Amino acid sequence: MVNKTKKNIVLGITGGIAAYKAIDLASTLTKLDYEVHVVLTAEAMKFVTPLTLEVITKNQVWTDQNSLEKSSIPHIKLADLADLVVVAPATANTIAKGANGLADNLLSSVLLAADCPKLYVPAMNSKMYQHDATQRNLRDLAVQGAVVLEPAEGMLACGISGKGRYPGNKTVLAQIESMLFGDQALEGFNVLVTAGGTREAIDPVRYIGNRSSGKMGAALCKEALRRGAHVTLILGSHELTELPEVNIIRVETAQEMYEQVMLHFDTQDIVIKAAAVADFKPESVKEQKIKKTEDTSGGKKTKTISLEGTVDILKEISLKKDKQIVVGFAAETENIATNAKKKLKEKNLDMIVANQVAGEESAFGSDDNTATLYWSNGKGRELEKMPKSELARVLVEEIIKLPKFVKLAR
Ligand SMILES: Cc1cc2nc3c(=O)[nH]c(=O)nc-3n(C[C@H](O)[C@H](O)[C@H](O)COP(=O)(O)O)c2cc1C
Repeated sequence: MVNKTKKNIVLGITGGIAAYKAIDLASTLTKLDYEVHVVLTAEAMKFVTPLTLEVITKNQVWTDQNSLEKSSIPHIKLADLADLVVVAPATANTIAKGANGLADNLLSSVLLAADCPKLYVPAMNSKMYQHDATQRNLRDLAVQGAVVLEPAEGMLACGISGKGRYPGNKTVLAQIESMLFGDQALEGFNVLVTAGGTREAIDPVRYIGNRSSGKMGAALCKEALRRGAHVTLILGSHELTELPEVNIIRVETAQEMYEQVMLHFDTQDIVIKAAAVADFKPESVKEQKIKKTEDTSGGKKTKTISLEGTVDILKEISLKKDKQIVVGFAAETENIATNAKKKLKEKNLDMIVANQVAGEESAFGSDDNTATLYWSNGKGRELEKMPKSELARVLVEEIIKLPKFVKLAR
């Protein structure tokens, strides 16, 4: 029976050793007054029985077999009624199906038909987890908008130690509740994001710029919007398409970016500086295009452009900062941790996101980012390579956990 006043969770259980842990999850969710609709894969039924889950959830438990016996179309019914689909534990097999849009059993069909939020809780042998194919599938799920919990490390059922353990129902439950109710945590908050690169004119046709694409900033805007914030984006050069609902202010130079940040700063609660701002600009901008033939010495054509420092936006903000949470980015090619921590301290930031911008792993222009977060209390968190959309979600979640945010939210 569908109870519309309660949140409906479709709990997909797949054929892994950790399937027995989903019994406890189903029990806890039912006690917390959620309507839990369990879907068991055929392989999961080798580990847990429909009867146990039916008794615990007081709801029909769905299997490939009984879904065929019913005259209704259960995969669409379940997909439509779900406020959230949770796959716990999620096998490598079902993850691959979800990532690639396969629909060859009831659970994968529900996953394809459901347009509500989806949570995957991977649990498997560490080699299966680390395999390129699984990692690619997990990234694809995140790009599709699903939330994927990171497995824990430790002794696995197969007897080896590594990453792949079911992370524990406390973690799973916290994630479920955050997906069902925590989405609007930024409602009523003003979030200012800067993104893209700046361009400093040399002459009317040339400029000094950088490779920033603005993708990280765009992902942050989308995540802040999704969480209910009012979002302003100060945007330099970029490769973005559209960002409806975001108040976009376009700028070109570091000076223009500075002026716009200062203009909007006082009304903001959270400022995330993801733009790549030039540190130097030409001392003077030539009025006419510089000719090829100028300044020839010793047969080799050389040209010297004198540079001067641009305004340090983060430093200016740190002097003005009051209630605002300020998060900076450190794009580094070497000594990433040292440079990022130095910037965090000098610019009086609440948090800094350090990332690599040299070589093949460069975050510039890529859809992925490998970042480490540092806080003003000295703590750090190293993150795996992940899509920028996923990193944006992690960052916003970390911002929401900051004591300063908790104070602002009161
Ligand atoms: C004893 C046993 C334990 C298994 N444990 C896991 C596991 O923890 N994680 C996993 O991804 N696959 C595991 N497998 C493999 C899956 O059961 C297999 O890939 C199956 O096709 C998954 O089907 P499903 O995704 O439809 O449930 C296990 C297989 C066996 C026989």
